[in-house]
Amino acid sequence: MSADVPDVRQTRLDNYVDRYAARTKGMTASEIRALFSVASRPEVVSLAGGMPNIGGLPLDVVGGAVRDLAIDNGAVAMQYGSGQGDPVLRDQICDVMRLEGIDAHPDDVVVTVGSQQAVDLVTRVFCDPGDVVICEAPSYVGALGVFRAYQCEVVHVAMDDDGVVPEALEQAIASVRAAGKRIKFFYTIPNFHNPAGVSLANQRRQRVLEICQQADLLILEDNPYGLLGFDGEPQRALRADDREGVIYLGSFSKTFAPGFRVGWAVAPHAVREKLVLAQESATLCPPVFSQLAISSYLTRHDWLGQVKQFREMYRERRDAMLAALTEKMPAATTWTRPGGGFYVWLTLPDGLDAKAMLPRAVTARVAYVPGTAFFADGFGSQCMRLSYCHPTPERITEGVGRLAAVIHEELELRQTFGPLPPGAGHDYDAPGPELS
Ligand SMILES: Cc1ncc(COP(=O)(O)O)c(C=O)c1O
Repeated sequence: MSADVPDVRQTRLDNYVDRYAARTKGMTASEIRALFSVASRPEVVSLAGGMPNIGGLPLDVVGGAVRDLAIDNGAVAMQYGSGQGDPVLRDQICDVMRLEGIDAHPDDVVVTVGSQQAVDLVTRVFCDPGDVVICEAPSYVGALGVFRAYQCEVVHVAMDDDGVVPEALEQAIASVRAAGKRIKFFYTIPNFHNPAGVSLANQRRQRVLEICQQADLLILEDNPYGLLGFDGEPQRALRADDREGVIYLGSFSKTFAPGFRVGWAVAPHAVREKLVLAQESATLCPPVFSQLAISSYLTRHDWLGQVKQFREMYRERRDAMLAALTEKMPAATTWTRPGGGFYVWLTLPDGLDAKAMLPRAVTARVAYVPGTAFFADGFGSQCMRLSYCHPTPERITEGVGRLAAVIHEELELRQTFGPLPPGAGHDYDAPGPELS
């Protein structure tokens, strides 16, 4: 390059800025990531992350299974494998799903890189830019990120303490179609919802199935928390009552460990074929070592006993969070009471904004995820997600106390200076998937 012609490559921050595919516009980095790097400091109580507490796992058993796998079956475990997933593991996955009333054949199962990849593959197979996906309000941040990346339009449907409101679902389907748009599926988390912390009531399940059947609308049932209920038997899956109209997603991330990255999809036959082709083009095959390690863990260990221990640990933490909220939160703050899973959804008193308040909360050494992360349309600013899965009960009590103090101060500020102007404090994007 001659001295008098400036090299534009040296003057631009990103030389490729005008060359990226349109879909990358939906892939925004989180500006609150910086805040969360502070939030991960030990003095901050993080009620933000949804990381399972794998400290309770029998690491010696897992270690033994992994070592034996490498020594006895390494040539297979470290080789490429089937795009659909290991047949023995798929058979074991059918046993797991039988606990929720699903009667599936191993041929119906596609193993994926966590259920996150299953959401991606289903969207890749079904959605063109502009297609509509109906989601609950709020919905899982990681799924919203996928829908955004495939340039889908998300339409949210109201929930209450009993899960999605059937009449709202019916209305949403009708009004989207009346506007001439194509809906590809209804994405739902029926059990111990992330982030809402509620479950679809028994008496609503049949109604939701009927509405979708009448509308000829596919359901994408995402169920990573189904076995983590604190009371009674696992709920019957939607898929158990409709084999053709529901794609079911499961995961070992919450009942075992997320680091293996093994989840699965169960789909009607023709869809399953497409998912396998999509899986092969994305990864060739899901990780064989992880699959065989999980398969061996399921065979060698009382894994259901382990899930029971997890449930007891999470129940204790849920109880600590609900007790602290009841004791410390100001009047007019409301929250859900989860019967399982990891999350409580909290609504602040009128006039408060969870996004605007976050920097002050982090300064007070407590972190949460603002509700706007869980909406595609900017709603949720009065809400936040609180996770009780990772901190100890004592830390949860401490964290809720700090949060309540921040909310009290915020209320005093509002009383002194009046409410924030609309839109104030809304200047950053949803958090990235590390907060899922
Ligand atoms: C509702 C929901 N779906 C899917 C996932 C992704 O889980 P994984 O990819 O680890 O199986 C999560 C993780 O938090 C989740 O909460």
